[in-house]
Amino acid sequence: MDPGPTPDLRVRLGPLELSNPVMNASGTFGYGDEWPDLTGTAQLGAIVTKTLTLEPRPGNPPPRLHETPAGMLNSIGLQNIGVARFLSERMPALRALGPRIIASVGGNRTHEYAAAVRALEAGGCDAYEINISCPNIARGGLAFGRCPLGAGEVVRAVRGETRRPLFVKLSPNVTDIVEIGRACLEAGADGLTAVNTFLGLAIDIDAERPLFHRGGAGLSGPAIRPLALHKVWELARALPGPLIGAGGILTARDAWEFMLAGAGAIQVGTGQMRDPRRAAAVARGLGELCRARGVGSIGEIVGRLRPAACAGG
Ligand SMILES: Cc1cc2nc3c(=O)[nH]c(=O)nc-3n(C[C@H](O)[C@H](O)[C@H](O)COP(=O)(O)O)c2cc1C
Repeated sequence: MDPGPTPDLRVRLGPLELSNPVMNASGTFGYGDEWPDLTGTAQLGAIVTKTLTLEPRPGNPPPRLHETPAGMLNSIGLQNIGVARFLSERMPALRALGPRIIASVGGNRTHEYAAAVRALEAGGCDAYEINISCPNIARGGLAFGRCPLGAGEVVRAVRGETRRPLFVKLSPNVTDIVEIGRACLEAGADGLTAVNTFLGLAIDIDAERPLFHRGGAGLSGPAIRPLALHKVWELARALPGPLIGAGGILTARDAWEFMLAGAGAIQVGTGQMRDPRRAAAVARGLGELCRARGVGSIGEIVGRLRPAACAGG
Protein backbone atom coordinates (compact mmCIF):
# COMPACT_ATOMS: atom_id res chain seq x y z
CA MET A 1 0.00 0.00 0.00
CA ASP A 2 1.26 3.50 -0.81
CA PRO A 3 2.29 5.11 2.50
CA GLY A 4 1.48 8.56 1.04
CA PRO A 5 3.73 11.60 0.83
CA THR A 6 6.58 11.88 3.32
CA PRO A 7 5.56 14.34 6.05
CA ASP A 8 7.74 17.39 6.53
CA LEU A 9 9.16 17.21 10.05
CA ARG A 10 11.23 20.37 9.84
CA VAL A 11 10.59 22.97 12.53
CA ARG A 12 11.80 26.50 13.13
CA LEU A 13 12.40 27.77 16.66
CA GLY A 14 13.04 31.46 16.11
CA PRO A 15 16.48 31.57 14.50
CA LEU A 16 17.11 27.82 14.91
CA GLU A 17 15.99 25.42 12.17
CA LEU A 18 15.84 21.68 12.86
CA SER A 19 15.30 18.70 10.57
CA ASN A 20 12.77 17.37 13.09
CA PRO A 21 11.53 18.48 16.54
CA VAL A 22 13.10 15.74 18.69
CA MET A 23 16.14 16.19 20.94
CA ASN A 24 17.52 14.41 23.98
CA ALA A 25 17.20 16.27 27.30
CA SER A 26 20.44 17.53 28.81
CA GLY A 27 22.21 15.20 31.23
CA THR A 28 20.43 12.02 30.20
CA PHE A 29 22.50 11.23 27.10
CA GLY A 30 26.10 11.85 28.15
CA TYR A 31 27.69 14.42 25.87
CA GLY A 32 25.65 13.04 22.98
CA ASP A 33 28.52 11.37 21.14
CA GLU A 34 28.41 7.91 22.72
CA TRP A 35 27.20 4.83 20.80
CA PRO A 36 25.56 6.73 17.91
CA ASP A 37 24.71 3.54 16.02
CA LEU A 38 22.97 2.02 19.03
CA THR A 39 21.05 5.17 19.89
CA GLY A 40 20.16 6.33 16.38
CA THR A 41 21.46 9.77 17.27
CA ALA A 42 21.64 10.84 13.64
CA GLN A 43 17.82 10.69 13.52
CA LEU A 44 17.44 13.49 16.08
CA GLY A 45 16.80 17.11 15.18
CA ALA A 46 19.36 18.22 17.75
CA ILE A 47 21.69 16.84 20.40
CA VAL A 48 21.77 18.67 23.73
CA THR A 49 25.00 18.24 25.69
CA LYS A 50 25.27 17.51 29.39
CA THR A 51 25.36 20.91 31.14
CA LEU A 52 28.89 22.26 30.74
CA THR A 53 30.61 24.59 33.16
CA LEU A 54 33.79 26.53 32.47
CA GLU A 55 35.77 24.37 34.90
CA PRO A 56 35.22 20.61 35.40
CA ARG A 57 32.92 19.63 38.28
CA PRO A 58 32.96 16.34 40.22
CA GLY A 59 29.22 16.43 41.00
CA ASN A 60 27.55 15.33 44.21
CA PRO A 61 28.49 12.34 46.40
CA PRO A 62 26.36 9.18 46.01
CA PRO A 63 23.55 8.28 46.07
CA ARG A 64 22.73 10.21 42.91
CA LEU A 65 19.77 8.30 41.51
CA HIS A 66 16.67 6.79 43.07
CA GLU A 67 13.78 5.14 41.27
CA THR A 68 10.25 6.25 42.11
CA PRO A 69 6.86 5.08 40.78
CA ALA A 70 6.78 6.26 37.14
CA GLY A 71 9.89 8.37 37.52
CA MET A 72 13.25 8.93 39.16
CA LEU A 73 14.95 11.32 41.53
CA ASN A 74 18.45 12.53 40.69
CA SER A 75 21.06 14.59 42.41
CA ILE A 76 23.96 14.47 39.96
CA GLY A 77 25.08 18.03 40.70
CA LEU A 78 26.27 19.02 37.22
CA GLN A 79 29.22 16.62 37.04
CA ASN A 80 31.00 17.45 33.77
CA ILE A 81 34.42 17.61 32.15
CA GLY A 82 34.44 21.39 31.65
CA VAL A 83 34.36 23.39 28.44
CA ALA A 84 38.00 22.95 27.35
CA ARG A 85 37.95 19.14 27.47
CA PHE A 86 34.49 19.06 25.90
CA LEU A 87 35.75 21.04 22.93
CA SER A 88 38.86 18.98 22.38
CA GLU A 89 37.56 15.49 23.27
CA ARG A 90 33.87 15.48 22.35
CA MET A 91 33.04 18.19 19.86
CA PRO A 92 34.80 16.67 16.82
CA ALA A 93 32.82 13.40 17.14
CA LEU A 94 29.58 15.27 17.85
CA ARG A 95 30.00 17.44 14.76
CA ALA A 96 30.36 14.38 12.56
CA LEU A 97 26.98 12.96 13.66
CA GLY A 98 24.84 15.40 11.70
CA PRO A 99 22.15 16.84 14.04
CA ARG A 100 22.37 20.39 15.35
CA ILE A 101 24.38 20.69 18.55
CA ILE A 102 22.98 22.64 21.48
CA ALA A 103 25.46 23.27 24.27
CA SER A 104 23.85 23.34 27.70
CA VAL A 105 25.67 25.84 29.91
CA GLY A 106 25.76 26.22 33.70
CA GLY A 107 27.65 28.22 36.29
CA ASN A 108 27.71 29.37 39.89
CA ARG A 109 27.84 33.05 39.05
CA THR A 110 26.71 35.25 36.18
CA HIS A 111 30.23 35.84 34.89
CA GLU A 112 30.87 32.07 34.84
CA TYR A 113 27.95 31.53 32.45
CA ALA A 114 29.31 34.29 30.23
CA ALA A 115 32.85 32.91 30.35
CA ALA A 116 31.67 29.39 29.49
CA VAL A 117 29.79 30.66 26.44
CA ARG A 118 32.75 32.83 25.39
CA ALA A 119 34.98 29.75 25.49
CA LEU A 120 32.41 27.60 23.64
CA GLU A 121 32.03 30.12 20.81
CA ALA A 122 35.20 28.80 19.14
CA GLY A 123 33.76 25.27 19.05
CA GLY A 124 30.99 26.02 16.60
CA CYS A 125 27.90 24.63 18.33
CA ASP A 126 24.60 25.70 16.75
CA ALA A 127 22.81 27.08 19.81
CA TYR A 128 22.93 27.34 23.59
CA GLU A 129 20.58 26.22 26.31
CA ILE A 130 21.28 28.16 29.49
CA ASN A 131 20.57 26.06 32.55
CA ILE A 132 19.25 28.31 35.30
CA SER A 133 17.16 25.53 36.75
CA CYS A 134 19.40 22.83 38.24
CA PRO A 135 17.99 22.03 41.70
CA ASN A 136 21.04 19.99 42.76
CA ILE A 137 23.78 22.55 43.33
CA ALA A 138 24.51 24.91 46.22
CA ARG A 139 25.07 28.08 44.17
CA GLY A 140 23.97 29.22 40.72
CA GLY A 141 21.41 27.10 38.86
CA LEU A 142 18.01 27.42 40.44
CA ALA A 143 19.11 30.44 42.50
CA PHE A 144 18.98 32.39 39.20
CA GLY A 145 15.99 30.52 37.84
CA ARG A 146 13.74 31.51 40.72
CA CYS A 147 14.16 35.23 40.36
CA PRO A 148 13.27 37.32 37.29
CA LEU A 149 16.09 39.78 37.99
CA GLY A 150 18.71 37.05 38.40
CA ALA A 151 17.46 35.19 35.32
CA GLY A 152 17.55 38.38 33.24
CA GLU A 153 21.06 39.16 34.46
CA VAL A 154 22.41 35.77 33.34
CA VAL A 155 20.72 36.02 29.95
CA ARG A 156 22.04 39.55 29.33
CA ALA A 157 25.57 38.46 30.25
CA VAL A 158 25.44 35.48 27.90
CA ARG A 159 23.73 37.45 25.12
CA GLY A 160 26.69 39.81 25.22
CA GLU A 161 28.96 36.90 24.23
CA THR A 162 27.08 35.33 21.33
CA ARG A 163 24.78 35.91 18.39
CA ARG A 164 23.85 32.24 18.19
CA PRO A 165 20.33 31.10 19.13
CA LEU A 166 19.90 31.24 22.89
CA PHE A 167 17.36 29.20 24.84
CA VAL A 168 16.89 29.32 28.59
CA LYS A 169 15.90 26.22 30.51
CA LEU A 170 13.31 27.03 33.12
CA SER A 171 12.54 25.43 36.46
CA PRO A 172 9.01 24.39 37.36
CA ASN A 173 9.87 25.05 41.04
CA VAL A 174 8.67 28.65 40.95
CA THR A 175 5.45 30.44 41.76
CA ASP A 176 5.07 31.98 38.32
CA ILE A 177 7.02 30.40 35.47
CA VAL A 178 5.64 32.96 33.01
CA GLU A 179 7.24 35.82 34.94
CA ILE A 180 10.66 34.14 34.75
CA GLY A 181 10.21 33.24 31.08
CA ARG A 182 9.23 36.80 30.23
CA ALA A 183 12.32 38.18 32.00
CA CYS A 184 14.51 35.85 29.94
CA LEU A 185 12.94 36.85 26.62
CA GLU A 186 13.14 40.55 27.51
CA ALA A 187 16.84 40.11 28.34
CA GLY A 188 17.53 38.71 24.86
CA ALA A 189 16.79 34.99 24.90
CA ASP A 190 15.41 33.60 21.63
CA GLY A 191 13.30 30.95 23.31
CA LEU A 192 12.65 28.83 26.39
CA THR A 193 12.97 25.18 27.37
CA ALA A 194 10.39 23.95 29.86
CA VAL A 195 10.99 22.17 32.14
CA ASN A 196 13.83 20.95 34.30
CA THR A 197 13.06 18.53 37.15
CA PHE A 198 10.55 19.07 39.96
CA LEU A 199 11.99 19.13 43.49
CA GLY A 200 11.20 15.95 45.39
CA LEU A 201 12.32 14.14 48.52
CA ALA A 202 13.14 10.54 49.42
CA ILE A 203 13.80 9.47 53.01
CA ASP A 204 15.98 6.67 54.35
CA ILE A 205 13.69 5.42 57.13
CA ASP A 206 16.52 3.53 58.89
CA ALA A 207 18.81 6.54 59.10
CA GLU A 208 15.82 8.88 59.47
CA ARG A 209 17.52 11.26 57.04
CA PRO A 210 16.87 12.42 53.51
CA LEU A 211 18.31 9.84 51.12
CA PHE A 212 20.22 12.47 49.12
CA HIS A 213 23.04 14.52 50.63
CA ARG A 214 21.49 17.80 49.68
CA GLY A 215 18.07 16.79 50.98
CA GLY A 216 15.84 17.36 47.97
CA ALA A 217 16.50 16.01 44.48
CA GLY A 218 15.04 16.42 40.99
CA LEU A 219 12.03 14.32 39.95
CA SER A 220 11.71 13.38 36.26
CA GLY A 221 10.02 10.80 34.06
CA PRO A 222 6.37 10.05 33.22
CA ALA A 223 5.34 11.05 36.77
CA ILE A 224 5.91 14.72 35.85
CA ARG A 225 4.45 14.67 32.32
CA PRO A 226 1.07 16.32 33.06
CA LEU A 227 2.76 18.89 35.30
CA ALA A 228 5.36 19.74 32.67
CA LEU A 229 2.71 19.88 29.95
CA HIS A 230 0.74 22.38 32.01
CA LYS A 231 3.84 24.61 32.35
CA VAL A 232 4.37 24.55 28.58
CA TRP A 233 0.70 25.39 28.03
CA GLU A 234 0.90 28.31 30.49
CA LEU A 235 4.02 29.69 28.80
CA ALA A 236 2.65 29.26 25.29
CA ARG A 237 -0.52 31.16 26.10
CA ALA A 238 1.33 34.06 27.71
CA LEU A 239 4.59 34.56 25.80
CA PRO A 240 5.61 34.96 22.16
CA GLY A 241 8.95 33.09 22.15
CA PRO A 242 9.45 29.57 20.77
CA LEU A 243 9.29 26.75 23.32
CA ILE A 244 11.04 23.42 23.73
CA GLY A 245 8.98 21.04 25.88
CA ALA A 246 10.42 18.43 28.26
CA GLY A 247 9.09 16.27 31.05
CA GLY A 248 8.20 12.60 30.94
CA ILE A 249 7.97 12.26 27.17
CA LEU A 250 8.26 8.61 26.12
CA THR A 251 6.25 8.31 22.92
CA ALA A 252 5.35 10.24 19.79
CA ARG A 253 1.84 10.73 21.21
CA ASP A 254 3.35 12.38 24.31
CA ALA A 255 5.41 14.63 22.05
CA TRP A 256 2.29 15.44 20.02
CA GLU A 257 0.53 16.65 23.19
CA PHE A 258 3.42 19.02 24.01
CA MET A 259 3.42 20.33 20.46
CA LEU A 260 -0.34 20.93 20.41
CA ALA A 261 0.13 22.85 23.69
CA GLY A 262 2.70 25.10 22.02
CA ALA A 263 6.12 23.42 22.03
CA GLY A 264 7.90 23.80 18.70
CA ALA A 265 10.26 20.97 19.68
CA ILE A 266 10.55 18.44 22.49
CA GLN A 267 13.19 16.64 24.53
CA VAL A 268 13.33 13.06 25.78
CA GLY A 269 15.24 12.62 29.05
CA THR A 270 14.50 9.86 31.55
CA GLY A 271 12.92 7.77 28.78
CA GLN A 272 16.25 7.91 27.00
CA MET A 273 18.07 6.57 30.08
CA ARG A 274 15.79 3.52 30.19
CA ASP A 275 15.97 2.91 26.45
CA PRO A 276 18.74 4.73 24.57
CA ARG A 277 16.77 4.45 21.31
CA ARG A 278 13.70 6.20 22.73
CA ALA A 279 14.32 9.68 21.32
CA ALA A 280 15.00 8.31 17.84
CA ALA A 281 11.83 6.20 18.13
CA VAL A 282 9.84 9.33 19.03
CA ALA A 283 11.22 11.08 15.92
CA ARG A 284 10.15 8.17 13.70
CA GLY A 285 6.81 7.93 15.50
CA LEU A 286 6.06 11.59 14.82
CA GLY A 287 6.42 10.91 11.10
CA GLU A 288 4.00 7.98 11.40
CA LEU A 289 1.52 10.06 13.40
CA CYS A 290 1.65 12.82 10.79
CA ARG A 291 0.81 10.28 8.10
CA ALA A 292 -1.97 8.66 10.13
CA ARG A 293 -3.53 12.03 10.93
CA GLY A 294 -3.10 13.63 7.52
CA VAL A 295 -0.65 16.27 8.73
CA GLY A 296 1.66 17.33 5.89
CA SER A 297 4.01 19.42 8.01
CA ILE A 298 4.52 18.93 11.73
CA GLY A 299 4.83 22.70 12.21
CA GLU A 300 1.07 22.91 11.56
CA ILE A 301 0.19 21.39 14.93
CA VAL A 302 2.36 23.64 17.12
CA GLY A 303 0.04 25.54 19.47
CA ARG A 304 -3.06 24.25 17.64
CA LEU A 305 -4.74 23.22 20.91
CA ARG A 306 -8.28 24.55 21.14
CA PRO A 307 -9.59 26.16 24.33
CA ALA A 308 -10.97 23.82 26.98
CA ALA A 309 -14.68 23.10 26.59
CA CYS A 310 -15.71 25.49 29.37
CA ALA A 311 -12.67 27.79 29.37
CA GLY A 312 -14.80 30.83 30.16
CA GLY A 313 -16.80 29.20 32.98
C1 LIG B 1 20.06 11.92 35.60
C2 LIG B 1 19.62 13.27 35.11
C3 LIG B 1 20.56 14.26 34.88
C4 LIG B 1 20.16 15.52 34.42
N1 LIG B 1 21.11 16.47 34.16
C5 LIG B 1 20.73 17.66 33.64
C6 LIG B 1 21.70 18.62 33.24
O1 LIG B 1 22.92 18.40 33.33
N2 LIG B 1 21.26 19.79 32.75
C7 LIG B 1 19.92 20.09 32.57
O2 LIG B 1 19.57 21.16 32.10
N3 LIG B 1 18.97 19.17 32.93
C8 LIG B 1 19.35 17.99 33.44
N4 LIG B 1 18.40 17.06 33.76
C9 LIG B 1 16.97 17.36 33.53
C10 LIG B 1 16.49 16.84 32.17
O3 LIG B 1 17.23 17.43 31.12
C11 LIG B 1 14.99 17.11 31.94
O4 LIG B 1 14.75 18.50 31.93
C12 LIG B 1 14.12 16.50 33.03
O5 LIG B 1 14.63 15.27 33.46
C13 LIG B 1 12.67 16.31 32.58
O6 LIG B 1 12.59 15.49 31.43
P1 LIG B 1 12.36 13.87 31.52
O7 LIG B 1 11.20 13.66 32.43
O8 LIG B 1 12.12 13.45 30.11
O9 LIG B 1 13.62 13.30 32.09
C14 LIG B 1 18.78 15.79 34.21
C15 LIG B 1 17.82 14.79 34.45
C16 LIG B 1 18.22 13.53 34.89
C17 LIG B 1 17.18 12.47 35.10
